[in-house]
This record gives sequence, C-alpha cells and structure tokens, in this order.
Amino acid sequence: MTKDLENKSLEERLQWVVENHKNIVFSSSFGQEDQAISHAIFWNDLDDIQVFTLDTGRHFQETYEVMDRTRSRYKKNIKTYFPNQEQVEELLDKKGYNSFFESVENRKECCFIRKIVPLKRALKDADVWITGLRAEQSDNRQDMPMWEWDEANQVHKFNPLIDWSFDQMEAYLKENRVPQNSLHKKGFVSIGCQPCTRAIMEDEHPRAGRWYWEESKKECGLHAVK
Ligand code: ADX
Ligand code: SF4
Repeated sequence: MTKDLENKSLEERLQWVVENHKNIVFSSSFGQEDQAISHAIFWNDLDDIQVFTLDTGRHFQETYEVMDRTRSRYKKNIKTYFPNQEQVEELLDKKGYNSFFESVENRKECCFIRKIVPLKRALKDADVWITGLRAEQSDNRQDMPMWEWDEANQVHKFNPLIDWSFDQMEAYLKENRVPQNSLHKKGFVSIGCQPCTRAIMEDEHPRAGRWYWEESKKECGLHAVK
C-alpha cells in the first residue's frame, strides 16, 4: 500500500490518508518537518486531520512565538495537551526543577510526565497518528517505514516525510513561506525543550543538540526505537 505512496507529493499522501481512514491526528512540535505538514494540512483544508501539540511547559519562548504565528497565519484549530498538574507538582517537589540533568532515568521520568502521558491522551481515540519523522534525522529512524503499526500506542503511524531530505524540506518551507522557529537561524536544528536543547556546529549531527550532555540514544520515548 505505501508502495503506491512512494512517488506521491506530501499533499497526495495526506489526501490518501483522509480518503481511506477516520480519526486521524497529527502531532506537531512546530519544528521544520512539522511545519511543512501543518502547511499542507491547513492550506488544503484537510480538516479531518486534528492537529495537536504537546506543550511540555518548558519550551523556548521562540517556540511559543512560532506557535502563535502559525495560528494567526492559518486560522485553524490546534489542540494543546498539557502535562498532568499533580504529576508535575510531585516531580518538582521531589526532585527539583532541573532533575533531568542528573541521570538518564530522571530525564526519562520528566519526558514521561511532560510528553508521554499527554501523548496517550491525545491518541486515545485515534486510528491514525501522523508524525514528522524523517529517516535522515538519526540512525534510530533509518529503517522506519512510512506506514506502520505502533504497538505501544495501538495506533497506525503515518510518517509522510520519512523519505524527504533536509534540502527538500527546506525548499518546501521556503516556496510556501511557512512560518518557522527563529531559532533555526541561530544554529538550532532539532528543537525540543529549552533546558534540553542547544545549538549545533555545522559539522555536528542534527540531533547532537538534544539532551547534549547524554550518551544515550537521544529519544524521549514518543517514538519506539529498536
Ligand atoms: S523527539 O522524540 O526527539 O522529541 P522530534 O523532536 O525528533 O521527537 O520530533 C519527531 C516527531 O515527534 C515530530 O515530527 C512530531 O510529530 C512529534 N513530536 C515531538 N515533539 C512533539 C511535541 N512537543 N508536540 C507534538 N508532537 C511532537
Ligand atoms: Fe523534561 Fe527535558 Fe524531556 Fe522536556 S526534553 S520533557 S524538559 S527532560
């Protein structure tokens, strides 16, 4: 099935999912990949796709700014999921405000509370989950297909940019004048939470700025890795 989608444009891929499936959601972090997908959804009035974001409460101010600019440009609904108040309060009371620097275990605990728990809520009634994953982003993502069954979340996962190159994505964003996070101009490529992301040098791996102090696989648990 996804073989037929291989030579299709982003718009055609999204159109295909809308025509063949129900209860479709798209998770946006407002990064470059996600902005390309949001543009394609909003510009083509693919309103059967519910766009949502996970506001961890620790984003960069620049990220909140591009969130607002996207809302004003397209005037479409974007649903925000926020972490559970009691869980965050308990974490902060128990371990302080920056516990993620202390161990991978602590970092994953924070990601679990601020991202995974809200993600579960967002996917509760979904049959298809669209993401902005690209194979080029990391070794962990090399073998990810465009369409797969996500066992952990019991949902079909659709990655319509999986085979896109960085240059292809940049050209699409430029051509369509898509709002972008101003941090991209300051050396930030993959952008997550403010305390856990830094800018990278030209010769560094695109994800080197994420959890930059860790030697781990640099994933937060949203996407299962082998
Ligand atoms: S992460 O696992 O390292 O955080 P990454 O930033 O590469 O993920 O983004 C990969 C995809 O995960 C995005 O294209 C998006 O679909 C989803 N995603 C990541 N962070 C968020 C977020 N805060 N809100 C919604 N979706 C997100
Ligand atoms: Fe917490 Fe950092 Fe994970 Fe954000 S990226 S949820 S601040 S550990």
